[in-house]
Amino acid sequence: MVTASCQTGTQPTVLVIDDEAGPRDALNVILRTFCKVRSAENAKIALEVLAQEPIDVITLDQKLPDRHGLDLLKDIKRDHPGVEVIIVTGYGSLKSAMEGIRNGAAGYLLKPFNVNELTTLIRQTMDKKRRLEFLRHCLLTLTDLWGSEEESARAWDKVKTGYAALSDAQANVASRQDDLSLLPLLSDILEATDRQLLNHSSRVSFHATLMASRLNLTVSEQKSLALGAFLHDIGKTSLPSYRFSEDQILPSGEASFCREHPDRGARMIAPLGLPIEVRQIIASHHEQWDGQGYPRGLRGTEIPLLARIVGIAQTFDHLTADAPGRVALPLDVATRQLSLQSHGRFDPQLLEFFLQVVKDSSLSPPAMDIAPAA
Ligand SMILES: [Fe+2]
Repeated sequence: MVTASCQTGTQPTVLVIDDEAGPRDALNVILRTFCKVRSAENAKIALEVLAQEPIDVITLDQKLPDRHGLDLLKDIKRDHPGVEVIIVTGYGSLKSAMEGIRNGAAGYLLKPFNVNELTTLIRQTMDKKRRLEFLRHCLLTLTDLWGSEEESARAWDKVKTGYAALSDAQANVASRQDDLSLLPLLSDILEATDRQLLNHSSRVSFHATLMASRLNLTVSEQKSLALGAFLHDIGKTSLPSYRFSEDQILPSGEASFCREHPDRGARMIAPLGLPIEVRQIIASHHEQWDGQGYPRGLRGTEIPLLARIVGIAQTFDHLTADAPGRVALPLDVATRQLSLQSHGRFDPQLLEFFLQVVKDSSLSPPAMDIAPAA
């Protein structure tokens, strides 16, 4: 796989993929002022360029003569995960542009192009690319993140310092003194591991917090539930080969390692000063009501309430969300499958509440799922 060096201050290389000469030339002229530009008029040529030279950002028209843009996007994100993609679209195709964002595109650009929007989007995408590359490097080299609390705290200091240096805006956010101040960094860490992991985490947080009003949770419990649900799988960032769609086919050493992700995640966030409930959710989201879960085989109400909620929400999401290599079940089939697991895997009363909430709500996807690069 070829990746660009993407150092701050160097000119990014942008590959413009469009079968129409007009938009291709327009993008070329604008981008040439601050980027190196390559062009491809179809998917085949685009893949050849990607295989031959380092590319930082792609602008991808959705309609290509030899493939649909979304299919090409999925292949690019699978084979070149470090390359950021901007979908180029008309107003009529906005829905599929959103689908592109869900599949890892960094943003979308509406035709006809506005020069300001284009340059801002490319710069934001490059900033994001640098942050994600930095974080991928951290996840590979700073294994102390999952070590003792003291080791982890030292590793986090390096991560936070480097991350803040890459973006003034992020540094300002990080200087706030509340539990949500680290959210941009934690969100980028999930995305640096796998965009689908970030999407899953966002949806689970959305589903879990639907329960909050039914259960009369306090404001601080609701906050911990939202944050804990968002971070429930953060321990998976410790698996170098992890891909969301390939949970079951990790290299042999990492498959059993995967069952450690609740403990690794809880250890990882220990130095961050988040509420204890957030740690409990991460540590216990795979425990089961009948004691057959992991890592500790906790049973019934031994499992913290908020972790029981997240256990249901994450299973619901695995059943109802499309992911690479997996098709979502219709809502009625998914809820029936969940119902069958009452008294086994899940707290029966919580499950009943959850199914009722699902029935009563429209379940629109959470905003974070479709947020463009910032
Ligand atoms: Fe998990």
